[in-house]
Amino acid sequence: MSLPQPSERAFVPFVSVAAMMTLIHQVGLDRMLRDLADYIEDDFRRWPLFDKTPRVASHSTDGVIELMPTSDGALYSFKYVNGHPKNMKDGLQTVTAFGLLADVATGYPMLLSEMTLLTALRTAAMSAMAARHLAPRDATTMAMIGNGAQSEFQCLAFRAICGIHTVRLYDVDPAATAKAMANLRDQGLTLIPCKTPEEAMEGAQIVTTCTADKQFATILTDNMIGSGIHINAIGGDCPGKTELHRDILLRSEIFVEFPPQTRIEGEIQQLDDDHPVTELWQVIAGTAAGRTAPAQITLFDSVGFAIEDFSALRYIRDRLEETGLYQQLDLLADPDDPRDLFGMLQRAQP
Ligand SMILES: NC(=O)c1ccc[n+]([C@@H]2O[C@H](COP(=O)([O-])OP(=O)(O)OC[C@H]3O[C@@H](n4cnc5c(N)ncnc54)[C@H](O)[C@@H]3O)[C@@H](O)[C@H]2O)c1
Repeated sequence: MSLPQPSERAFVPFVSVAAMMTLIHQVGLDRMLRDLADYIEDDFRRWPLFDKTPRVASHSTDGVIELMPTSDGALYSFKYVNGHPKNMKDGLQTVTAFGLLADVATGYPMLLSEMTLLTALRTAAMSAMAARHLAPRDATTMAMIGNGAQSEFQCLAFRAICGIHTVRLYDVDPAATAKAMANLRDQGLTLIPCKTPEEAMEGAQIVTTCTADKQFATILTDNMIGSGIHINAIGGDCPGKTELHRDILLRSEIFVEFPPQTRIEGEIQQLDDDHPVTELWQVIAGTAAGRTAPAQITLFDSVGFAIEDFSALRYIRDRLEETGLYQQLDLLADPDDPRDLFGMLQRAQP
């Protein structure tokens, strides 16, 4: 049976997983990570303009499904994302995502996109962009703790954006480290597999924790963090899901995305509600200080905020015409007369 032909306005550009993979290669991973960091930085600079709300989380015993909306008044976006640490043992990913960009003036969707790959890229770009403001200037070595799906993207972003040339990798599962080592070979990084997190920390000026673990895990203990280190804590992003010992937080200068969300989901859920933190956008806008002394321990308590996804979708939208890497999806019912939706239904009458 043939389907009725959609009208022009029915179509919304859709970036599939295949299109996203091709786009990443066409643009080049390094350039895309740098571009995404710049897009996110630009949007953080205009932070007060945005609608902001902690993401809407639906928790279950095995994980969480979240909706992440925001708007700058001209564009609106949301991302659907899950976090299920138990998925891996069933051969499924911990994190998957897709998202939508819409025109605020009409409310019409403008772009639907896969965001599992895009989330890994935007998270890595965000981490490295934050480190550009917070990490020691001369940092060359990063400890990468947790070598799962996000890890290679993190390593490559820190190389492309912060000039890291050595990565010391550790995972409770040596197979994950072997996978990351294989994926990262020939990428201009010196790779050192480590047997313990303590070994991974040796000589590192930056540590990224990117694990998906049980309730209140302690991936880093206080004795592992020397002065001058920058901590990029990615994996603690849900109530009850943390990676750092509380004592580390008490010694650190803490930088966050959106405090009302981070106080629920981030490492700082372990601290009092009024514990001082700095909003990263203020560092970028020049109204708050980033790192102020070489001996300072800086912590980016990353949970992932909607504006980062907004920036990533905006970036993909801006690449659509030059790359042509999208399909037209018949997503929007478009009746001939806007009040005659019922009449439109008759187009499919057998
Ligand atoms: N902050 C953000 O914006 C953001 C974005 C995406 C993902 N995340 C979070 O990052 C984490 C990692 O995501 P992923 O997609 O790479 O997950 P993943 O399941 O693919 O990888 C997690 C890795 O952590 C390892 N691990 C678990 N416990 C460990 C421990 N105690 N020490 C060392 N390694 C350990 C696992 O063996 C696995 O290889 C998740 O918790 C996810 O929710 C955060």
